Amino acid sequence: MTLDNFVVFEGIDGAGTSTQIKILKERPESSRISFSAEPTEGPTGRFLREILGGKIELNPKTTAFLFAADRAEHVWGKGGIVDSVNEGKAVVIDRYIFSSLAYQGVSCGKELPRKLNEDFPLPSLLFFFDINPETSLKRIKNRDVTEIYENNDYLTQTRKQYLEVLEEYKNNSHSDGMKIVTIDATKPKEEIAKIIWSHISNLPIFKS
Ligand code: TMP
Repeated sequence: MTLDNFVVFEGIDGAGTSTQIKILKERPESSRISFSAEPTEGPTGRFLREILGGKIELNPKTTAFLFAADRAEHVWGKGGIVDSVNEGKAVVIDRYIFSSLAYQGVSCGKELPRKLNEDFPLPSLLFFFDINPETSLKRIKNRDVTEIYENNDYLTQTRKQYLEVLEEYKNNSHSDGMKIVTIDATKPKEEIAKIIWSHISNLPIFKS
């Protein structure tokens, strides 16, 4: 099932999704959009940040469950994605189930992330920011905190998983209604912002 006016940005670390969300927030239409990200700012999301920072080491399966638990609250919790869409807002989020299918697909195999994420609604629009890890890692090397997945080997496997997962969705009739747009994330950010707006401005909410 897809949710109208629900948009997801995905890509490996350093692909530039957060930069594009910032640009989108500056548009006058942004008052009609609810923005958020995963991991969320909620208790499970904060715990996940500690895991990502390497402070706590858990079995990869446990981490997959935690990402799904954080997501359940993000989607169905009070004031979450479903509530916002029902209130007539567009929702744009940085990362969603595709991150779990790609990143946890590498760390604990495809099956568990698939099971844990099968009930979540799909977005009507998915942007995949494609970039090779050498380039993306160069972009983020000056960040203060290095997270556990930010290395060339892991991100190379993650990108491969993303591409496989998206191919599966493209060929699956259950994901009918989800439009997948692949962005060349090495393009200048202004150019990417234009492409993104050309799709978001076509959402039903901006047509009414
Ligand atoms: P970010 O805030 O820079 O996007 O980093 C979040 C990190 O968490 C990034 O390395 C991807 C990872 N992640 C997963 O492994 N699985 C998930 O389901 C989500 C939402 C994020």
